[in-house]
Amino acid sequence: MTEVSVAKEDVAATAELVVLKSVNKHFGALHVLQDIDLTIARGEVVVVIGPSGSGKSTLCRTINRLETIDSGSISIDGRPLPHEGKELARLRADVGMVFQSFNLFAHKTVLENVTLGQIKVRKADKKAAEEKARALLDRVGVGSQADKYPAQLSGGQQQRVAIARALAMDPKVMLFDEPTSALDPEMINEVLEVMQQLARDGMTMIVVTHEMGFARSAANRVVFMADGRIVEQAAPDQFFSAPRSDRAKDFLSKILHH
Ligand SMILES: Nc1ncnc2c1ncn2[C@@H]1O[C@H](COP(=O)(O)OP(=O)(O)OP(=O)(O)O)[C@@H](O)[C@H]1O
Ligand SMILES: [Mg+2]
Repeated sequence: MTEVSVAKEDVAATAELVVLKSVNKHFGALHVLQDIDLTIARGEVVVVIGPSGSGKSTLCRTINRLETIDSGSISIDGRPLPHEGKELARLRADVGMVFQSFNLFAHKTVLENVTLGQIKVRKADKKAAEEKARALLDRVGVGSQADKYPAQLSGGQQQRVAIARALAMDPKVMLFDEPTSALDPEMINEVLEVMQQLARDGMTMIVVTHEMGFARSAANRVVFMADGRIVEQAAPDQFFSAPRSDRAKDFLSKILHH
């Protein structure tokens, strides 16, 4: 796809795409992100894992400013996150996000779901937006569903539409927060395969998932969080075969042996 080749050419400009420095976030007394330093390179696929409540979703949500931070800084492609207005809408388009729950617009068709942001935020004309939407829907394997409403699709199909919708904005980075954990088992792979392909195509991705097979095969790096901190990070092979921290060892023994 053209957007990916453009992203690759940008590598010369700066390798660092997403940079978090000393990020802190509280929910009341709860210190949910503690001095998070994280740099993600262009084209890198980072899988974030960790126990429930460790701050994985909050981390994702701060990167497209669905949550504000208390201190520290976050920048995307060399620019600090904007606070409001058009700049913020553009940031949200640059940072595609796919959540656990399928958050498609229920009263719009699949095609409209994928054209709306292109027209409103990217100012594409309707015809070009539709052409791009159809190409993306084909790419994620739901081209024949374009005129249906989300409720008429399976969970796996809806999640693939959500991916197509995010891709339609030509995002610089894609965030996935447990995109398969609300799916029936037989639909998990069809979504993971789309994500695998995206990773192979060079998309920069931050993925919160319990799918360790995906982490092993698609991730460049695994980031392990516990209690609001990044406890360790390593290449998947290294992390899964020789975790260093007791927290990671304990976590892996629970998720890999059942
Ligand atoms: N809006 C909020 N208000 C108050 N507390 C919150 C809010 N959102 C999250 N929390 C708390 O912050 C902590 C981190 O939550 P977060 O959802 O980031 O964890 P997580 O690692 O994604 O967990 P899970 O694996 O269960 O999805 C939890 O203790 C959670 O209860
Ligand atoms: Mg979460």
